[in-house]
Amino acid sequence: MKKILGIIASPRNLGNSEMMVKEISSHIPLAHELNLLRLSDFNIRHCTGCYQCLFKKEGCVLDDDLHIIQNAILDADALIVAAPAYFLGANAALKLLLDRGLSFLNHVEKLWGKPAVGIAVAGIEGKEGSTLLGIESFLKLTMTEVKKTAIAYGALPGEVFFNEQNKKTAAELGESLFAPAPEKKAYACPLCGGDTFRFLGDNKVKCMLCSNSGTMRMESGSPVFEINKGEHELFLTKEETIQHGEWLQKMKGRFKEQKSRLKEISMAYKEGGNWIKP
Ligand SMILES: Cc1cc2nc3c(=O)[nH]c(=O)nc-3n(C[C@H](O)[C@H](O)[C@H](O)COP(=O)(O)O)c2cc1C
Repeated sequence: MKKILGIIASPRNLGNSEMMVKEISSHIPLAHELNLLRLSDFNIRHCTGCYQCLFKKEGCVLDDDLHIIQNAILDADALIVAAPAYFLGANAALKLLLDRGLSFLNHVEKLWGKPAVGIAVAGIEGKEGSTLLGIESFLKLTMTEVKKTAIAYGALPGEVFFNEQNKKTAAELGESLFAPAPEKKAYACPLCGGDTFRFLGDNKVKCMLCSNSGTMRMESGSPVFEINKGEHELFLTKEETIQHGEWLQKMKGRFKEQKSRLKEISMAYKEGGNWIKP
């Protein structure tokens, strides 16, 4: 029996995100158990940027609930991630967890390629902002194979199912979770499948999901993207993800080499400003 983990980045009990996850689960064609994590139930502290997780077998040194969430992700066969739009982006609980993701780099072999789907919920049609991109970034950086993502609109708890289309969307997401290949979006980055771009002028664009640049041209009225792989990739292949982890580990050596120079620069900024403390 497959173990599906539903990660819900909404603090609202029985809100639209939770209901969408359960509806998606009901359309997964394989026998499975659905385990659920509501991120706001957990004490997730802010990453302090100490990088110790990269060197310690036991992972992050902060004493909080990250290990519970990490173990649930490692233990799952597939993920469903749902987040509501909060001020034009995914609820911050998802980013708070993702910010702790350096410790996931110790588990590339177990994490790489887990099937995943993502659903963004927004209260006002068209006002989701970067919510879906936030969910897709979470899914890519947790090394999943993103099968399909979608946005559903609905503000009040349950309102998402006033619209029958959202039930269909849930069914498509559920059916795609264990499908052999990810859904191909009509206009997307050929490297990572992302469909959010920054326009840099002169037909140049940058994919906001994999951070690679290239060009966009129109062919028969439709945009065609050519995006080139950079030298430092974060999640396009398992090997590059492992290399990224190794590159980060080498930062310790770089830090030691440059320590006195860095200290000199930093000390010049030690004073100044009045700190407001809690
Ligand atoms: C603080 C706050 C900010 C919100 N910001 C947005 C927003 O920027 N865009 C939008 O479409 N909906 C926004 N909403 C509405 C929620 O996305 C919507 O109610 C959604 O259904 C909540 O999902 P949930 O029931 O899973 O919590 C916001 C809601 C709250 C409470």
